[in-house]
Amino acid sequence: MFRREFTANLKDGTEVFIRLICPEDKGEIEKGFMRLSFRSRRNRFVVPIKELLPSQLKYLTEIDNTNHLAYGVMDISLEESPGIGVARYIRDPEEPESAEIAVTVIDDYQRLGLGSILVKALLDAAHCYGIRKLYGFIIQDNVSMIKLMRKYGASIIRDSGYLLKATLVVEETQSVRIV
Ligand SMILES: CC(C)(COP(=O)(O)OP(=O)(O)OC[C@H]1O[C@@H](n2cnc3c(N)ncnc32)[C@H](O)[C@@H]1OP(=O)(O)O)[C@@H](O)C(=O)NCCC(=O)NCCS
Repeated sequence: MFRREFTANLKDGTEVFIRLICPEDKGEIEKGFMRLSFRSRRNRFVVPIKELLPSQLKYLTEIDNTNHLAYGVMDISLEESPGIGVARYIRDPEEPESAEIAVTVIDDYQRLGLGSILVKALLDAAHCYGIRKLYGFIIQDNVSMIKLMRKYGASIIRDSGYLLKATLVVEETQSVRIV
């Protein structure tokens, strides 16, 4: 079921609030980016960029939440509710039933189930908006993203060089495949 906002508990009990991104989130996204390790930046952007430019922040937040949809996550167990993760899909203009996904969880919150919650939320949203395939490019040594995509039944092929392409078929109720 597609939800614009919801709360969830991570494996360590941390309560998080997840909602669709809006243009006012630029500052929080910038702060979250600064908390990402070198490795996470490289895994997300393929090159370990040092900062997000104003044009990139605009691209990442000024979205229609239909063809380009993104969730932001806040840790509401902390007083200032910092941003701790983002997940998005962007519909492929040349193949409108497909969309590319990207997921980022800041390092301190990785391996607590948040990536899994976010991919499920993207699958539900994608289904609602008529997207049949979600694909993502993964650096070949990014075990976390490979495991996360496999968990939802992704097929993974080599794309080019050190990049893999993982594709998820969007179904009405995507169950987790145990591997
Ligand atoms: C990839 C990423 C989004 C995963 O998020 P996460 O919140 O750590 O994911 P989860 O906790 O839901 O883990 C998903 C599964 O992968 C496994 N996993 C995650 N990281 C792992 C690691 N380093 N080694 C082994 N298994 C790992 C988890 O155990 C889990 O399996 P389980 O549910 O059977 O226990 C996160 O590591 C991240 O943001 N990395 C940096 C950016 C990036 O690589 N993005 C992907 C490219 S767009």
